[in-house]
Amino acid sequence: MEPSEAKWTGTSLTILTITDPPTDRHKIVTARSAYAGRGVVDWLPAMSELVSLSHEGDVAVVTIANPPVNALSPGVPESIRRAIAAAANDPAVAAIIVIGAGRTFIAGADIREFGKVVSGEKPRLTLLPLLLEIEDCPKPVVMAIHGTAFGGGMEVALAGHYRVLAASAQVGQPEVKLGIIPGAAGTQRLPRLAGVAKAVEMCAFGEPVGAQEALALGIADRIIDGDLLAGAVAFAREVAGKPCPKTREREEKLRGADPAIFARAREQAGKTKRGQTAPLAAIEAVEAATRLPFDEGCAREAELFGECLYSTQSKALIHAFFAERAVSKIPDVPKDTAVLEIGRAAVIGAGTMGGGITMNYANAGIPVIVKETSQEALDRGMAIIRRNYAGSVKRGKLSQAAMDQRMALITPQLTYDGFDQADIIAEAVFEGMALKKQVFAEIDGIAKPGCILASNTSYLDIDEIASVTRRPEMVLGHHYFSPANVMRLLEIVRGRATSKAVLATSMALAKRLNKIGVLAGNARGFIGNRMLGPYLREAQFLVEEGAAVEDVNQALYDFGMAMGPLAMSDLAGLDVGWRIRKEFKHLEKPGVRVPLVADQLCEMGRFGQKTGRGWSQYDENRQPSHDPETAAMIERAAREAGIERRAISREEIVDRCLFALVNEGAHLLGEGIALRAADIDIVYLNGYAFPAWRGGPMFYADTVGLKTVLARVEEFRGRHGADLWTPAPLLMRLVESGAAFADFDKRGAAASA
Ligand code: 3HC
Ligand code: NAI
Repeated sequence: MEPSEAKWTGTSLTILTITDPPTDRHKIVTARSAYAGRGVVDWLPAMSELVSLSHEGDVAVVTIANPPVNALSPGVPESIRRAIAAAANDPAVAAIIVIGAGRTFIAGADIREFGKVVSGEKPRLTLLPLLLEIEDCPKPVVMAIHGTAFGGGMEVALAGHYRVLAASAQVGQPEVKLGIIPGAAGTQRLPRLAGVAKAVEMCAFGEPVGAQEALALGIADRIIDGDLLAGAVAFAREVAGKPCPKTREREEKLRGADPAIFARAREQAGKTKRGQTAPLAAIEAVEAATRLPFDEGCAREAELFGECLYSTQSKALIHAFFAERAVSKIPDVPKDTAVLEIGRAAVIGAGTMGGGITMNYANAGIPVIVKETSQEALDRGMAIIRRNYAGSVKRGKLSQAAMDQRMALITPQLTYDGFDQADIIAEAVFEGMALKKQVFAEIDGIAKPGCILASNTSYLDIDEIASVTRRPEMVLGHHYFSPANVMRLLEIVRGRATSKAVLATSMALAKRLNKIGVLAGNARGFIGNRMLGPYLREAQFLVEEGAAVEDVNQALYDFGMAMGPLAMSDLAGLDVGWRIRKEFKHLEKPGVRVPLVADQLCEMGRFGQKTGRGWSQYDENRQPSHDPETAAMIERAAREAGIERRAISREEIVDRCLFALVNEGAHLLGEGIALRAADIDIVYLNGYAFPAWRGGPMFYADTVGLKTVLARVEEFRGRHGADLWTPAPLLMRLVESGAAFADFDKRGAAASA
């Protein structure tokens, strides 16, 4: 390897001339041996690969091509810098355009770089010098934006002298969603363009704005209809030769910012981003822009950015970002598996779930028939669908025309007419094996060959349901979460015979329906509900042992859950679990402790919020308060069962509930019911309102340390018995080898690569 091809920076070796990273591995290998023991080896692809410089007459065009989203991966900022410098020094160039190739402008810094902090590596952040150079360029630099300019991409855009946007473009600072804040002066430049109030909102809450709003705010200078590059070239010629406005020197929108803006934003963050540190840091950074000169503001931003980046919260949120994108990959279902076309759907049952599922199809533009058994049930179901859409129209989330279009896609009926045309039939009738089998036998007789038959069952055996059909390969579970039109999780339950094409189609369909599909094995309760069992069991045991209902709820709420476990049961309806317990009564092991009070509450007609009483009592606004009768019932039941009552700490409440969840997760991970620990996290983040900044139950366990988790599980086994607290074999194995759930996932990924 030639010395000129490599640069040693003191901490890492950069190889400058690799043109084809996958096949030029020999250069890396050579460099590794030449610099053995001296540190990390990175490669920088040749500039022409990532960023190209071309010319439209006197306008230079810097095009970034780092698919899929033009992230600012190592090599990209450096290459942009070189291209801008070359254009600036070229006397034939009057103005410069920066544009993204492919589907977008720049979607941000390369998040994989931030992921490196988990393993102790230092992420490379080389943006700030580039941004100053762009801003100081003596020739106008026009940012031509389509798709998204997010995060570091937005920061590059803000450093340009002008921004022109395609009408469909979006711009924003979504860093808080990753537990960090803008780290390349976004909190300092954005308020100078958009004003302080909007900058606080965008940086602290992470929502992007569209092109029209960006124009109104002063972020964009023009919206280009039609060809973006041609429009940008025309714009660049208009501004060529004129002064180049530097965003960092624009002070007018900073002056006189109302301090109440920050107080209000902090209050809102306390409510909608409860427990998260990045939104508060983002507010502080924008506030710094109003108090400090630009350079000092940037320094404050850098401090806050560093604190956020090295926090567990950011590691958790970055984990969630990548987990959400990895979850659709099924190792034995190749990426190129042909998917079946889903042009028409049919739903059976227009109840709580059937109605929401019907809306999902209509929302995706797929015509859908919904069948009921009585006109009354059908009318009720359709009225709820209509009311849901009308609510969205009222809140300005949907236009009346879009609502009418969606309603027109739905055909309510009492017969199976048209079911023979459906590409997928989704069943959402009452939970009960006999009824499910009857319905599947009926639809098997009607559906065309190649039609997918999906059950929304919460707990029942998919193979047993499939056994009544002549096409078990087309049968699987599509388990939505309530409300089905809102919750993003979809468990895709694989039966013994489910074909790969049906699985691949289901994953693709999930995306079309704006859901996150997670593959689950056919175990009772699949992933989410199976784990929920021990979690809710411990919550109930804790109240029997002396904790108040409110203590249990508060402890888990303070941990970050949207609501405590008993509050969640009251919301879902205690009758739901009651019905399931009856269905599976025969599976209970004699002599094993079971919760004492839930059945009694149900026998008294206390189903939770919907009846005004359950674990708590509820006023007409569904606000909970302590129910002394329930408390007395719990105490009596515990005394009669000989359960010792004692004071219980918050720590014990949290550990018992969460480690019961984690241990069950480890059981089903070991059994192959979930493919990856990260899949379990995605289920809990999207189906059970687990706090995203904790990363999900399995990630949380990794942050606590599996050794500590196992020790607690063993302690609880000692106190409460092996039937309830057998440590999962996988958990023990991981502890033995000093590994974490994340290592289990990595090994799985490596094995299937
Ligand atoms: N860095 C690295 N990879 C990224 C990325 C990024 N910023 N953004 C997206 N990707 C990857 C995804 O992981 C995915 O990879 P895969 O195909 O291997 O799974 C691929 O690009 C496509 O992403 P999506 O599936 O999400 O594609 P969509 O079209 O649905 O969405 C998007 C595109 C809106 C850009 C979305 O990916 C997104 O929101 N990305 C994150 C944007 C973001 O948070 N930017 C800020 C980064 S932090 C930062 O910039 C800090 C700075 O202030 C210094
Ligand atoms: P539901 O009681 O609200 O609705 C069921 C509907 O099915 C009723 O309207 C009923 O009239 C109709 N129905 C019964 N037999 C029918 C038939 N042969 N043909 C057409 N319609 C028929 O019940 P829900 O809550 O919607 O549950 C449906 C399924 O979804 C169950 O398997 C349940 O376990 C599952 N599920 C429920 C969740 C929830 O939170 N409610 C969450 C996830 C899954």
